[in-house]
Amino acid sequence: MCGIVGYIGKGNSVEFLLNAIEKLEYRGYDSSGIAICGDDKIKLMKKKGRISVLRKSVAVSKDFDVKKGVVNTGIAHTRWATHGKPSDVNAHPHVSQSGKIAVVHNGIIENYLELKKSLRRRKVKFLSQTDTEVISALIDSLYDGKDFLKAVRDTVNLLEGSFALAILCSDFPDTIIAVKKDSPLIIGFGDEENYIASDVAAFVDKTKDICRLEECEIAYFKGDKVKFYDFNGKELDKKVTHIDWKIGSSTKEGFEHFMMKEIMEQPEAIKETIAPRIVDNKISIKNLDELVESVNKIYIVACGSSYHVGAAAKYSFEKMTGITTIVDLASEFRYRIPAIDEKTLVIIISQSGETADSLAALRESKRRGAKTLAIVNVVGSSIASEADHVIYTWAGLEIAVATTKAYSAQLAVMYMLILYISSRVGKISDDIYREYVKHLLSLPDFVQKMLEMKEKIYDMAKKYKDKDNVFFIGRGVDYASCREGSLKFKELSYLHSEAYAAGELKHGTISLIEQGTLVIAILTDKKLFEKTLSNIREVQARGATVIAIANEEKLNSVDLEVDEVVPIPNVPKMMLPSLTVIPLQLFAYYFALLNDRDIDKPRNLAKSVTVE
Ligand code: M6R
Repeated sequence: MCGIVGYIGKGNSVEFLLNAIEKLEYRGYDSSGIAICGDDKIKLMKKKGRISVLRKSVAVSKDFDVKKGVVNTGIAHTRWATHGKPSDVNAHPHVSQSGKIAVVHNGIIENYLELKKSLRRRKVKFLSQTDTEVISALIDSLYDGKDFLKAVRDTVNLLEGSFALAILCSDFPDTIIAVKKDSPLIIGFGDEENYIASDVAAFVDKTKDICRLEECEIAYFKGDKVKFYDFNGKELDKKVTHIDWKIGSSTKEGFEHFMMKEIMEQPEAIKETIAPRIVDNKISIKNLDELVESVNKIYIVACGSSYHVGAAAKYSFEKMTGITTIVDLASEFRYRIPAIDEKTLVIIISQSGETADSLAALRESKRRGAKTLAIVNVVGSSIASEADHVIYTWAGLEIAVATTKAYSAQLAVMYMLILYISSRVGKISDDIYREYVKHLLSLPDFVQKMLEMKEKIYDMAKKYKDKDNVFFIGRGVDYASCREGSLKFKELSYLHSEAYAAGELKHGTISLIEQGTLVIAILTDKKLFEKTLSNIREVQARGATVIAIANEEKLNSVDLEVDEVVPIPNVPKMMLPSLTVIPLQLFAYYFALLNDRDIDKPRNLAKSVTVE
């Protein structure tokens, strides 16, 4: 969704800002804009459409020739329309009527109509349909010509809703103010220059020393200094965190798309996530004992693919720990009254750590006294900061909207968690535990082997690229993989697909199967193999074309008689989803590639969903 960046330093602010918003393109946007402070005025450019359009206009404008040797400040934004259609005028930054104050904003101002009305009474004119424009107008109306910081503080205390802001004032060309409430904002500390962004991807190539603003905090940058305040004006002491992402960068490194680069990074992402947590062949996760003690129920709550990780893990969680495990969508969980108390462990899974529904579910769980554990990829994100405990997935920066390596790293954490808890509650013998740990350590190699099937999957996608409807069927843990496969296919291909529990087909959905319908059947669970095979025969009898993703060992004894077969090595059942997902990701990728889709930034989607 929307992206904010800010720059303060003696370098070329314009170059930094344009490059930085390009790094946020993956989040989804429909317009962009930039404002810098220079010659005692705000210089502004905003354009509907791609950043390349903005770039062209900036390149031919004299306003954006940056002076050397002085402190340069600037802010920029990518907008994903909420209030008002995508247009030049609705794009950010929004500049106040006097031309003094420029604001970029992520989030939604809920009382903007009320504020607009009262500002109109004071003859303030508005140009856009956005909620954001009231912020610049309000700051300007509260500014006494001297104290910029006070005007911002007084303004944010009047705003209701969610807002991450970066603000310029033409009277202070060496100053930027950043504010955070319910929408992420991160400060990056560079070499005699500092950065602001709603997502570290914007500046991770410049610095890995960061500081996240917490709720209701203000960062005040002047020259190369920065001070932090709360909304009451109290100065705060904040620590710098070093993000230690070993893999992933904000460049494609020779790949055509970030998605393919990230698919290929999966063995490494799993290894980075698992290896540091296995000490002397034992899973070691700090401070977890207390959290899992006396737990009698587990809720796994998440959205999208992260939810599918929970759905896949549930089977082994319940079987191996003996603890009732319920998986729920965060958007549903937050508005019902789940039976949770201090004996419940709520596990929130999120790549971004900023998903609005997941964050709300976490807060609701804490309010009800549950213990909370977050599995998060982005260090220091809101969910990571607010949960009682966090286990990071060390997948590194993930740029493609369709998650791949973070999904795989999340699964790896779930396997460790299952083993950890089942051993704590005495449900697993030492021998079996050791066997599992061995398998866990070899998981990256198995995933690597799956990736070597790339060409085979490409050929399959080529053969079926004109299909306009795909069904994914499977049972048990394979049904969970179907849901992820179907989501990947949908988001990338823009075509209809459906994930169905194979045993449910006969209860209605089989009416949709006709001559040539493509069915991807998953049969990796040996125990359910024959059952799903019967369902394959049923769809074949109605003309379906079938691709089977099937257990390799079983394939040695059974002739599947389907159109295509993708063999899956016989790893422990718990870990099967990690292998199954690879051909599903590759199929979705190649299908989209062959149909000329926008792979890294599929239409209508955003990487981090910060509104509900
Ligand atoms: O950042 P999160 O893991 O909380 O995001 C949840 C979903 O929005 C996300 O998994 C989404 O479904 C992906 N685009 C799927 O590829």
